[in-house]
Amino acid sequence: MEKPIGIFDSGIGGTSIWKEVIKLLPNENTIYLADSKNAPYGEKSPEEILLLSIKNTEYLISKGCKLIIVACNTATSNAIDHLRKTYNIPFIGIEPAIKPAVLLSKTGAIGILATKGTLTSKLFKKTTAEYTKNIITIEQDGEGLVPLIEAGKINSRELNELLSAYLKPMLNFNIDHLVIGCTHYPYLIPQIKEILGSNVKIIVSGKAVAKQTKAVLEKLNLISKAKIQPNHQLFINSHKEVLEELIKEVTVNYSVLKLDF
Ligand code: DGL
Repeated sequence: MEKPIGIFDSGIGGTSIWKEVIKLLPNENTIYLADSKNAPYGEKSPEEILLLSIKNTEYLISKGCKLIIVACNTATSNAIDHLRKTYNIPFIGIEPAIKPAVLLSKTGAIGILATKGTLTSKLFKKTTAEYTKNIITIEQDGEGLVPLIEAGKINSRELNELLSAYLKPMLNFNIDHLVIGCTHYPYLIPQIKEILGSNVKIIVSGKAVAKQTKAVLEKLNLISKAKIQPNHQLFINSHKEVLEELIKEVTVNYSVLKLDF
């Protein structure tokens, strides 16, 4: 059997990346790991995030994965350097797409919605210092959003009120781009558009991550050349229902499995 691509996130949000990966790489097997029991990572210390990222990585390596996508901005920001140094397989990470937002901005102001764990990380600080010298950046911690998404309350009043409180003040700064810096938040795009209106463009990173994954697999000669009916397994250490709901439109064959982890 072709070795799978491994993908992990603190929970179900990384499926927003998994969907782009299976679209662009239809001949690849995948194993997705949702560490929902430990979500949100964004409120944990860098040390805790690192330990959980190591645990997830070792699980995926034990399943024979040939490459790992860290489909979590918080885990990438706090752990990817260590993972790359420690394990002998390629890692693809995800970071808030600040550079494209800065390059595209006409008003000279952009918003970034991410977790506290991402916004306070060294990697994020380095990236913002490099790209946002001549631009106003409004950073907002999305505290509370991930637990509501994990609980299946995507369209709840509670979530919408929280999101409005986080995003509306950005309009006072005349932002024209919002960078989505957490893989759970693409599931909120309909509400985000309603709050911010059509003048603010939303920047997500899923397609770029899929493209980068393809490029790395090709470069390292790891890409699956067989025309296979791919096998996709999604493991979750909490209840399965919300994950199943989020991916129900996906037409390829997959199985969602409960895992004690
Ligand atoms: N999906 C994770 C991210 O991209 C959410 C982190 C969390 O669990 O707080 O940052």
